[in-house]
This record gives sequence, structure tokens and C-alpha cells, in this order.
Amino acid sequence: MRIEHLKKSYGAVQAVNDLSFSIEEGSCFGLLGPNGAGKTTTIEIMEGIQEADSGTVYFKEKPIDRDFKKKVGIQFQSTALPEFITVKETLELFRALYPDPRDMDEVIDICSLQDILDRDNRKLSGGQRQRMLLGLAIIPRPEMVFLDEPTTGLDPQARRNFWKLIEKIKKEKTSVLLTTHYMEEAEILCDQIAIMDHGKLLEIDTPSQLLENHFDGALVTVPHTGRTDLGIKGAVYTETHLEVSTDNLDLTMNELLNSRLNLEGLSIKKPNLDDLFLKLTGSSLRA
Ligand SMILES: Nc1ncnc2c1ncn2[C@@H]1O[C@H](COP(=O)(O)OP(=O)(O)O)[C@@H](O)[C@H]1O
Ligand SMILES: [Mg+2]
Repeated sequence: MRIEHLKKSYGAVQAVNDLSFSIEEGSCFGLLGPNGAGKTTTIEIMEGIQEADSGTVYFKEKPIDRDFKKKVGIQFQSTALPEFITVKETLELFRALYPDPRDMDEVIDICSLQDILDRDNRKLSGGQRQRMLLGLAIIPRPEMVFLDEPTTGLDPQARRNFWKLIEKIKKEKTSVLLTTHYMEEAEILCDQIAIMDHGKLLEIDTPSQLLENHFDGALVTVPHTGRTDLGIKGAVYTETHLEVSTDNLDLTMNELLNSRLNLEGLSIKKPNLDDLFLKLTGSSLRA
């Protein structure tokens, strides 16, 4: 699947501003960005639900058409579920909409719905609801699944359980497009990651390559010192702390010791995607 030069504005707001990228068949692609970055607008244009002002969406080298909707599974960021019916009844309702729906047992198994089949839709916890929505998305045996922030608001355990479901879908060679606020999630699930802000692409690469492109070996952090010029190679002084991305830890540690700074609270870690996100957008993903 591929998008080329997508643009979409709402009045004066340029939600998507000349966005292009491609998703390899059978891979999991992560679209990341802060609130308002344009993720949902992008994903809805790719689904064929919204029309772009300009640009093209291709699926298997052809611009998407009405037929495309039969090949995709969509889990919306917010969905109204029919009330007063159970999970099982909802699955049956959706299965009836498609010519060749997936077997009920298979949906139940992939999405671990055994224990909640007889529960009313209104009584589901956040994690249970997301499991069921994923079940609905995979009923048509989609070649491509769109998941817009499927784990936002879930507790850490429910989020981990959801990752297992996505792994199962990936094993079926279904392509997945996922938006998320959780860097850890993207790092674990995604083969490719695109980071966007203000409707534009900032970076696109594999998780490990993204980190390699931006960071040297280790990230040393010291809580705020009040001082800003300590002659430490590679140091960045922020409002709250001093940060050094270094490929020569010996040198950095020596410089820090010689600076006579109070090093209490110093930490050394391998940089992760959260650090990268902060660096690229100037804000934390969850802010
Ligand atoms: N229907 C709409 N009408 C007006 N503005 C919108 C609409 N949908 C989104 N926007 C605006 O477009 C920008 C991108 O929104 P969205 O695609 O929802 O971002 P994200 O999913 O990354 O949070 C935001 O500034 C948002 O306020
Ligand atoms: Mg959104």
C-alpha cells in the first residue's frame, strides 16, 4: 500500500500536508505523532472513508476504489457499538455483512473472546472492547488492517495482551497500519515507523535504524544543574536536565566528574524511541 503527496485541510488547518510513504505487504507499519499530527486524517483517507484534497492512495499499484473496502479491516479510534446485544450477537451481525466471513471460532480464538461472548456490549472493559473491535475488523479476512490507537487508555497488562493479538494477525501475513501513542509498542510491533507532526513526515525507517541515525551509543542524563556551559562534548542543556548522547562513555564520564557537578541522580541508558520522539517533536508523545 502506498500514498503519494496526500493533502487535506479543514478550513485553515492543514491536517495532512504532502505526505508520502509506502507499506510493504505483510508488514506492520507504525504511524506515530503527537495529538493533532494528522494521523487519523491520514488513516481515514487511506481507508477510503475521507477524500483527500489532492494526492493518491494505491493498493497493489492501483488507486483505491470501492472494491478496496472489501479487502480491509478497520478498527476506528472511536466506534459506537450496538447496545443491548452481546459480543457474540455483535460478531454474528457483522459476519452477516460479508460474503465470505471468517469462521466464528477463528475470530473468537484469535481475539481471545471466549470469556466475554455473552456479555452486553455496554459492560465491556476497555481491553475487552478493543479485543472485540479487532475481532470485527478481521471478520472479512482483510489483506490490510487499520488500527487507530487501539491501545490508548488500556492498562499495561491489557496493552500487552493486545500486542499478542496483533502478533497473531501479523503471522497471517496481513498488513497492519497502526497508530499509537506508545513508543514501546511501536518498537515491539512495527517493522517500519513513520513519525509525523503538523501533517508532515519527519522520519521513516525501521525502529533500530531510526535510533542509530539519531543517537550514539549511550544517553547520559544528569538532573538540572542550573549551569549551561560546562564544556562537555555533545551536551544538551534542557530546562530540567543535562543530556549527553555519547559514543565514548569513558570520556563523557571523565568530563562530568571533572566538571565538579553534583552527579546525584545521574543515569546512563540506551536511547529508545521515546527519546527520539522528544528530540524530533520537542514534546513527549504522551503529553
Ligand atoms: N473534521 C474536522 N474538522 C476540522 N478540523 C479537524 C477535523 N478533523 C481533524 N481536524 C484537525 O486536523 C488536525 C489533525 O487531526 P487528526 O488527523 O485527528 O490528528 P491525530 O489523529 O494525529 O491526533 C488537528 O489540528 C485537528 O484538530
Ligand atoms: Mg487520531
